[in-house]
Amino acid sequence: MQYSRKFFSLFFAGMLAVASASCSAENEALAASPVDSKLTEKNINAELKKAYDKYKGLKEGANADYIPALDKVDSNIFGIVLVTVDGKVYSVGDIESEVSIQSISKVFTMAKVTEEKGIDALPKNVGVDATGQVFNSIYAIEQNQGHEMNPLVNAGAITTTSMVQGKSYNEIWNKILGYYSDFAGRDLTVLEDIYKSEAATNQRNQAIAHLMYAYGHIEGDPLQATDIYTRQCSVGVNTKDLGMMAATLANAGTNPVTGKSLVNPEDMPEILAVMATAGLYDDAGKWLYKTGLPAKSGVGGGIIAVSPGKFGIAAISPPLDAAGNSVRAQKAIADISAALGGNPYEAAPYGK
Ligand code: DON
Repeated sequence: MQYSRKFFSLFFAGMLAVASASCSAENEALAASPVDSKLTEKNINAELKKAYDKYKGLKEGANADYIPALDKVDSNIFGIVLVTVDGKVYSVGDIESEVSIQSISKVFTMAKVTEEKGIDALPKNVGVDATGQVFNSIYAIEQNQGHEMNPLVNAGAITTTSMVQGKSYNEIWNKILGYYSDFAGRDLTVLEDIYKSEAATNQRNQAIAHLMYAYGHIEGDPLQATDIYTRQCSVGVNTKDLGMMAATLANAGTNPVTGKSLVNPEDMPEILAVMATAGLYDDAGKWLYKTGLPAKSGVGGGIIAVSPGKFGIAAISPPLDAAGNSVRAQKAIADISAALGGNPYEAAPYGK
């Protein structure tokens, strides 16, 4: 059978019309998703208050004490902040007291190195696999000669810090601090008492850095890398800072309030994937099972969690569980995210 050119143009125009009609129907269905409809101002404020009231009196856990200054931090500090990707800030409790950012910093140094050296640099040099070992494990290094780890455990994190480009200690440090500050949307500073206390007791991290140097992962001075890492862990943050930093990750790497783009949106899924698999130390699996959220904790008592494209949430409460994660922060974030539909794995059957 012979078809004219006109027949083909009419046929394809018809096909296109059908395709675009079904696309706009899909968009309407997505916009009306029951998950997003939970994110109203009223719901968010109510869920924050509910979690705060529920866990305010909880006395489980204890401050970290392997860094002596952490033991002196007020255990009663408890604040929760949720920031939506359109920059609205919701909060409850103590959102002004600063604690040290500790391991939460590892996410942002990872992002810096990814931006400077490309998405393959970290998988190649330290890996992106959960170790299943404690965060400062030496055994994990020995298993694979410093490969097959990730930038969120100490060996990977100190190596990641060593990869930040710069000609001098100060140039590297100022770049790191400036980058963290851009995520928070204000100038952050170091808590000097925490820095001094950790610098005086970080011999294990020095050993880790030397091992990573011996296996060829750290190129420069391993002690300089350890010291800059110690300083980055001592940056002071309040719950609002952490909430904004988490929201920047949720907003594809752009601070939702200042509008500054800090991470290439194409690199965000990989960064969030590492947070999902290794963000809560060796309890990362349990956390992901319960919440589905990429997250990162620090021994200062903070936790950030990210619901991509929706919100960032943070909580601070210094007492930690046996794995080193804040007891109240975990519980509060898990409850709030569940109530607001934050789990990225959550879906409703089409049309329901
Ligand atoms: O290296 C340390 O021991 C601390 N500066 C950070 C520890 C921490 O928060 C746990 N890390 N995953």
